[in-house]
Amino acid sequence: MSDLKKIKDKFLLKLKNQLNLSEINQIKSDLFGKNGIVTLQFKKIRSIPETERKKFASDLNIIKDQLQDLINLKINKIENTEINKKLKKEKIDITLPERPFTKGKIHPVSQTIDEISSIFSEIGFSVEEGPDVENEYNNFTALNTPDNHPARDMHDTFYLDEKKEKLLRTHTSPVQIRTMLKDKPPFKIIAPGRTYRSDSDQTHSPMFHQVEGLHIDKDINMGHLKGCLNYFIKEFFEVDSIKMRFRPSHFPFTEPSAEVDIGYKIKDGKIIIGEGDKWLEILGCGMVHPNVLKNVKVDPSKFQGYAFGIGIDRLAMLKYGINDLRSFFDCDYRWLNHFGFDPLDVPTNYRGLSR
Ligand code: PHE
Repeated sequence: MSDLKKIKDKFLLKLKNQLNLSEINQIKSDLFGKNGIVTLQFKKIRSIPETERKKFASDLNIIKDQLQDLINLKINKIENTEINKKLKKEKIDITLPERPFTKGKIHPVSQTIDEISSIFSEIGFSVEEGPDVENEYNNFTALNTPDNHPARDMHDTFYLDEKKEKLLRTHTSPVQIRTMLKDKPPFKIIAPGRTYRSDSDQTHSPMFHQVEGLHIDKDINMGHLKGCLNYFIKEFFEVDSIKMRFRPSHFPFTEPSAEVDIGYKIKDGKIIIGEGDKWLEILGCGMVHPNVLKNVKVDPSKFQGYAFGIGIDRLAMLKYGINDLRSFFDCDYRWLNHFGFDPLDVPTNYRGLSR
């Protein structure tokens, strides 16, 4: 009897037994694996005398097909039985009520950040990001706030090490430094994100949000700053006109510096922006100090521009009538259900994100 016939008979016999899936797979690899019996026979073909080669190859192919078909048939059969068994066991009771389904809401702060980003991207600002854990240099020194500068105390900084080299950024202004160090002017960016100060009451939380703005080019002046902020506030509050005032102030990294208030009134318990004779501070700004530009290797005799830092949480509180800042961060689902936004409800002043 030829070798091939022996192989065939031996394995046909084996396959007649009642086998489980792993036993069949074992036979499959014994036959057709890398060093399988049939595989080796195929390797042998070349060494067979030419007169017998054709017949040998044809017999081998027939045997291969026969065994392979049988193995596949057996595997299919077992798999089908398994599926049928499962189908019988795992019955679905379609009369059961559905599981409760809760739809998520977008947090007002996230919503406000999206709105702010979309408004600024309309007028050519791109979005930058920086880390919450900053180094002392980017947060203070590079921003013209050297050691012992009184402004450092005003920030109630959370330091992360004894040497006071690492800290939780107290404002988004270090993103100005990061942006200008990594690219060449002009710059026209906003940088929304988390900021931290050791402070907590109805209008202050140790973690809060700011959006930084920076526009540096050859001929940017304070008129551009006013125009930009005026446009932004009108768009954000969706009003045609606003009252805005620039109050002289001081920041080490801008000169001159100003704080900006917007006019509002309270009617029937609601805040109305753009009318009335009350003022509310919403941001700090100014023309970027030449020392800051020097620190990031930008020539202040060629480039200049403005920067601003807006309190995001405060804007969200005003626009959406939320009166306690701390409630933003309480993680109360009932609160979020009330003040949050439907992910599919697109606000009127939303034009898509450039991020
Ligand atoms: N970083 C300042 C603050 O947190 C705000 C600011 C930003 C002021 C940019 C001027 C320019 O108070």
